[in-house]
Amino acid sequence: MKTEPPSCHCSLTAAMSIFETARAKINLCLDVTEKLPDGYHGVRGVMQSIDFSDQLEISPDLAADKRGWRVESNIRYIPSGETNLAARAALLFHSHTGAGPRSGLIKIKKRIPVCGGFGGGSSDAAAVLRALNREFAAGLGRAELERLGERLGSDVPFCVAGGTALAEGKGEKLTPLPHLDCYTVVCRPDFSCSTPELFAAIDKMKMRIRPDVPGMVKAVAEGDLQGVARRLFNVFEEALPKKQAEAIWVIKDLLIDSGALGAVMTGSGSGVFGIFPNKNAAEEGCRRLKAEGVECHLARTTRAIE
Ligand code: C5P
Repeated sequence: MKTEPPSCHCSLTAAMSIFETARAKINLCLDVTEKLPDGYHGVRGVMQSIDFSDQLEISPDLAADKRGWRVESNIRYIPSGETNLAARAALLFHSHTGAGPRSGLIKIKKRIPVCGGFGGGSSDAAAVLRALNREFAAGLGRAELERLGERLGSDVPFCVAGGTALAEGKGEKLTPLPHLDCYTVVCRPDFSCSTPELFAAIDKMKMRIRPDVPGMVKAVAEGDLQGVARRLFNVFEEALPKKQAEAIWVIKDLLIDSGALGAVMTGSGSGVFGIFPNKNAAEEGCRRLKAEGVECHLARTTRAIE
C-alpha cells in the first residue's frame, strides 16, 4: 500500500549518512522438501545470525534528482546500479511506503563473502530496509519488513531480524527460537556454487538422508550444543559436483581436527562453518585453519534485533 510520505523524524540533510550493520547467516540444518509449481522449492531448516558483518553507509539524495540509487563497495565485481539487491531494497521501500528518498548512494564495506551461502546480499538488503524504516519513521513492524524482504529474495525475511529461527516455506515462514549462544569459525573455500544448479541437481536426486529438523529445534531450545553439533546437516552437500564435495569435506575435516564439535556447509555453499565448545577453542581452531591456508573468521552467534 502506498501512503503519504510521513515527515522525516530526523534532521537528515543531503550530506548526512545512515549507518547500519548487516549480519551474515548460517544454516544449522537445511532440507529441501519439494518442488513448487512456480519452480521454487520448499525448504525447512534452522537459521542463525552471526557477528560477521558488512557495514553500510546510506547517503540519501534529498535533492531528489533523478540519479537513482548507486552502490559502491570494496568488492569490485558487485553491481553498482539498481540491479544490486541493496539498491532494489531502497527502491522497494520508497515505492511501498512513499517514505524515504528516491535516490542516493549506498556504500558497502563487504566482509561477508559474496556467493558464499552466508546471505551477504540478502543481509545488505535487509539492512537497507531496517535503516530506511527507522530513519524515515515509516513505522513498518518486523512482519511487514519481512514481507517486503520476501519480494527481494528468500533469505531476506530472516535477515531483517536474524537471531535463531526455524525457516519454512521458501525460507520466508519464520518461527523464532530461543537464542543459541556459541562460537563458530566460518570458512570460505576458493570456489562458488550456483544456487539454481544445486536446486536442479536436488530435483534429480533421491535423497538418502535428511536433516533431523525437529531434533535440531529441540537441541536449540534446550541449549544443547552437543546436540546441535550432532545434527548439523545440509542436503546441498549431497548435490555438489564430486570435486566440490571433496573440497567441502577437506575443510569440514580440518574444522573437526581443529576442535570443532561439528561442521557443515551453509546455504548453497561454498561457505562452511564449525561450532566450537567455547571462545578459546574457536580462537585456537581459527589459528590452526589459517595456518593450513584456509580463509576463515571467528564469529559468535547473535540475538534477533528487536
Ligand atoms: O530467492 P533467491 O533469489 O535467493 O533465490 C535464488 C535462486 O534459488 C532462485 O532463482 C531459485 O532458482 C532458487 N530457489 C529455489 N527455492 C527457494 C529459494 C531459492 O528454488 N526456496
